[in-house]
Amino acid sequence: MTTSLPPILITERAIQQRVSELARQISADYHDREVLLVGILKGSWVFLADLARRLTVPVIIDFMTVSSYGASTKTSGVVKIVLDLKCPLENRDVLVVEDILDTGLTLKYIVDSLKLRRPRSLKIVALMDKPARRKVSIKADYVGFEVPDKFVVGYGADCAERFRNLPYVGYIEEENDG
Ligand code: IMP
Repeated sequence: MTTSLPPILITERAIQQRVSELARQISADYHDREVLLVGILKGSWVFLADLARRLTVPVIIDFMTVSSYGASTKTSGVVKIVLDLKCPLENRDVLVVEDILDTGLTLKYIVDSLKLRRPRSLKIVALMDKPARRKVSIKADYVGFEVPDKFVVGYGADCAERFRNLPYVGYIEEENDG
């Protein structure tokens, strides 16, 4: 088992600073309203925990878990809700919290199905965005960082369940033959 830590892409300090900025912006935009944060497990838990504690508006928190169908390790676009929300969304201001917006297939499915539950508003905050990889048209309303097309880990994001607890965002170096 490898014990070496992934190289740093975004430092802990930069993340903390950006999460505070996002929290300020979101708190201003939702002034006088209660936000229902919908965390997509497992990747969003660290980001959601930090973000939620810095919001100055009233907050309700719920989680859902989704999984991709199919044998491929790549996102197939066919998504199954494994753990659904407990809170009804009707007439609520919903903010979906995601770690990474990559092809967009997962979030597109989630957003489309949550819209059917008639929230008053529905927005997305993603800590990281990889626009180069997008396969469907979807944009986050709030983005922490645009990242290059690398496999990133840490601050909630994993590689085969590892590295979620890193306080920074690193990346997995591609193996080369040399
Ligand atoms: P999408 O459906 O391709 O947008 O991918 C959605 C999910 O795949 C993200 O929420 C992540 O959980 C996971 N994912 C995508 N890119 C990465 C990555 O670079 N590292 C770790 N997980 C990723």
